[in-house]
Amino acid sequence: MFDSGFGGLTVARATIDLLPAEDLVYIGDTGRYPYGSKPLEDVREYAHELAWSLVRDYEAKAVVVACNTATAAGLDDLRRELPVPIIDVIAPGARALVQTTQTGRVAVIGTVGTMASGAYVRAVVDTGAPVSLTSAACPGFVEFVERGQTSGDEVMVLAERLLAPIRDADVDALLLGCTHYPFLARTISDVMGGDVTLVSSADETAFEVMHRLGELGLLRDADRIGRHRFVSSGDVEVFRELGAQLLGPELDHTESWRPPAG
Ligand code: DGL
Repeated sequence: MFDSGFGGLTVARATIDLLPAEDLVYIGDTGRYPYGSKPLEDVREYAHELAWSLVRDYEAKAVVVACNTATAAGLDDLRRELPVPIIDVIAPGARALVQTTQTGRVAVIGTVGTMASGAYVRAVVDTGAPVSLTSAACPGFVEFVERGQTSGDEVMVLAERLLAPIRDADVDALLLGCTHYPFLARTISDVMGGDVTLVSSADETAFEVMHRLGELGLLRDADRIGRHRFVSSGDVEVFRELGAQLLGPELDHTESWRPPAG
């Protein structure tokens, strides 16, 4: 599994809880984050490097792209190239969103890259559900999470400004279309009010992992405890400290990852 940084740990947490027997390698590309403000071609290149590294260096039997921006950058080539299944977060998130709404008015928030790609509009249309979708980019949210600042006045002021169009749209379900955002769920919920259900793709993606591995006969027997490895392209000490606060006790060490030279 990989993400630009800490955000994918929300998906890692859900996957470890659902599939405790599976081994998990998580790469947080903190040396190159944020992805959301970068050209999608660059992000697509990073995704290729990370996915191939998971397969070649860590012998992954499946790759979870635990990053909306990397998914939005396009995974078609990667899906064709890679010898293992690739599971992304956008399709499961869109499904969870349309299943949650009662009124049919829904919203999604994400990085500038994800929102500009139109990937969520397509994914929601693909569900076939008759919903009206409002979307907004939330530049700045990821940076707060990467600094470990998940609450407080500054985050609240930014959230009030960025979420204003979503509040005006009178939605009853809001999809957190960036894996970093569940760490800001308290603030986002305070701004949106108790009538709006926040939907995170983390649980839905973990179920997708279980179904895909099950279909392919790749699930491990339940009578073992999986091994969890956490790897970062940035400062490994920072990753271990902040990552443990965000994920929990399984993140007790971090290894270093370097992108291929050239
Ligand atoms: N967590 C990532 C996502 O789901 C990207 C955040 C970033 O690096 O901008 O979009």
